[in-house]
Amino acid sequence: MKKILVTRNLLEENEKRLLKLFDAKLNKEDVVLTTDQLIELSKDCDGILCVGGNKFDKEIIGKLSPSVKIIANYAVGYNNVDTNSAKARGIAVTNTPEVLTDSTADISILLLLGASRRAYEGRKAAEQQNWTWSTNLLLGKQMSNRKLGILGMGRIGRAVAQRAKGFGMEIHYHNRSKLSPDLEHGAIYHSDIKSLFAQSEFLSINCPATPDTINLLNEETIKYLPDGAVVANAARGDVINDDAMIKAMKSGKIFALGLDVYNGEPKINEEYLKLHNLFLLPHLGSATKVTRIGMGDRAIDNLEDFFSNKRPKDQVN
Ligand code: GLV
Repeated sequence: MKKILVTRNLLEENEKRLLKLFDAKLNKEDVVLTTDQLIELSKDCDGILCVGGNKFDKEIIGKLSPSVKIIANYAVGYNNVDTNSAKARGIAVTNTPEVLTDSTADISILLLLGASRRAYEGRKAAEQQNWTWSTNLLLGKQMSNRKLGILGMGRIGRAVAQRAKGFGMEIHYHNRSKLSPDLEHGAIYHSDIKSLFAQSEFLSINCPATPDTINLLNEETIKYLPDGAVVANAARGDVINDDAMIKAMKSGKIFALGLDVYNGEPKINEEYLKLHNLFLLPHLGSATKVTRIGMGDRAIDNLEDFFSNKRPKDQVN
């Protein structure tokens, strides 16, 4: 049986299956392993099943035991793994696409609504029972029938578009390449950020973190958005420059922001916490039972394929 280091607990359903197929080295306390622990614990392993919070950069990959042949990432995003360094060392890297598309698109809509309809302030007022109904109590920005810009029109971006159509929104998007009409479903393509942002009364960030997208919302580009825009990020924290965003939220350029992901999470820029026009979640994009079981199954499928000498269907390097 191949030996697999499993860096965090999986749901019971996944763990049972994994234990039948592999000699799994579990982290029963479910603590976040340090880099040194990852290297040490995987010394006698053939593969690693890790989560997005485990970083495998060039240096760490260089220190892994030669016995490690696959890193199966339990996430669709794999910016935590240096795939080129892994490839150079003959290590396959896989992710878990598709199974989390719906749950993450749902969270994008929640972020857009939570931010635009002032859910954080609403919750606080309701809890404190000190509010009086009035015609101007916590007036939000109505999402229905407005323009939505989607940054990154992959599976998740397209699922956000599908949902937003139910709100009567006009969909605009930017992507590395224009989609075919059958995937576009009438969405309007913008080949550059400036032109997309100019239309984005609401903006949903659904792109992976790559050298092209890191810091994409910055002091300069935020200016391209209409005044009073609403932004939601369910992708990766580093797409947004926090200082520039905080400044824009303070000035009213940005009406409200919804965040599920953060630069250096679980840490958050302290300045954000002083703002009322922010709706926050702790990286819950894929956090439903059905999705998490799907992700576990997908990671296990990839390990199974790999050790049966098949190219895993989700291999990314
Ligand atoms: C979650 O952030 C994922 O990439 O799956």
